[in-house]
Amino acid sequence: MTILITGGTGFVGAHLARRLVNEGERVILFDASPNPKRIQDVQSKLKIIRGDLTVLSEVLDAVRSNGVEGIFHFGATISAAADARPVASFQVNYAGTLNVLEAARLFDVKKVVYSSSMAIYKPSSGKVNEDYEKWPWSSYGVSKVFSELWGQFCNKKYGIDFRAIRFPTVIGPGREWSTFAFASFIVQKAALGESFDVPVREDFRTPITYIKDAIGAAIALYKAEVVKQRAYNLASMAPGAKEIVSEVRKHIPDAPLRFVLNEELARAAEERNPPQLDGTRMESDLGYKPQYSLERVVPDFIQEIRNNKAMYA
Ligand SMILES: NC(=O)c1ccc[n+]([C@@H]2O[C@H](COP(=O)([O-])OP(=O)(O)OC[C@H]3O[C@@H](n4cnc5c(N)ncnc54)[C@H](O)[C@@H]3O)[C@@H](O)[C@H]2O)c1
Repeated sequence: MTILITGGTGFVGAHLARRLVNEGERVILFDASPNPKRIQDVQSKLKIIRGDLTVLSEVLDAVRSNGVEGIFHFGATISAAADARPVASFQVNYAGTLNVLEAARLFDVKKVVYSSSMAIYKPSSGKVNEDYEKWPWSSYGVSKVFSELWGQFCNKKYGIDFRAIRFPTVIGPGREWSTFAFASFIVQKAALGESFDVPVREDFRTPITYIKDAIGAAIALYKAEVVKQRAYNLASMAPGAKEIVSEVRKHIPDAPLRFVLNEELARAAEERNPPQLDGTRMESDLGYKPQYSLERVVPDFIQEIRNNKAMYA
């Protein structure tokens, strides 16, 4: 099976690529700014195409000339970066999705899995399932709603097997900075022996998942023979920032972490107040339930960093 991952050398794309290569799939990575450092351990076993999602001919060519059978469409301008330049990121986050689905239509790609987000939902302090109100707080969230709807349209109109997974904030080795990335930075910086000022309040909680669950769930969604709905939540957990620091200190007692409030970032995070994601339907329809509690995430994450310092330092 030949699988194309857009945004394939990004944080989530690179971890997915590694897993698929190790499962014996033929993997093509399509990325506008390829970052081979992230996949240096498996680079010889996959193909990287420098290409731009906003250029239809480049997307069409990547799909046609490689006989692509499945696509994970993970390329995007994410979160804070998209909100900082909403018009510029429109091309990537809207037209990019259009172009990927057009390639899927023209070249009979069997399945397209799309990386959606908790950012589509109306803020809430509760836990929500897939039917909860879509009222994005950000331009990024609006683009996720659009992409899901366009995918559903292409499913109805052209029969493209489009499936979306709604991720909470994903933490794990190599993640870039954004508003909710502090949880990832707490662990990564400590594992690298670097200091980190945690910018939110000690009791601040935000929905997260570990990269290995994000990848496991995306693959389960891809592999499912049939789906009952076109978009699924991946269940989140919500440890407080202090809990994450305490968990890290169980493994690295002298980790140079301290709380230094960044009022602006903390306010932005608190106002957004993304809901916890209920993953009941993913579990019942796809048989996937997250495997990593915080107690399992932290030592695994630290070990991954220590084993692969060249990739993450
Ligand atoms: N990381 C998270 O916490 C999270 C949460 C919810 C949803 N998501 C979604 O998952 C996907 C992957 O996120 P990530 O954290 O890996 O982001 P990332 O920024 O690390 O990776 C995105 C990749 O897309 C590539 N890209 C950007 N513009 C492109 C273009 N025009 N053409 C081709 N490639 C382009 C970038 O070069 C980058 O490698 C995104 O769609 C994101 O919105 C991520």
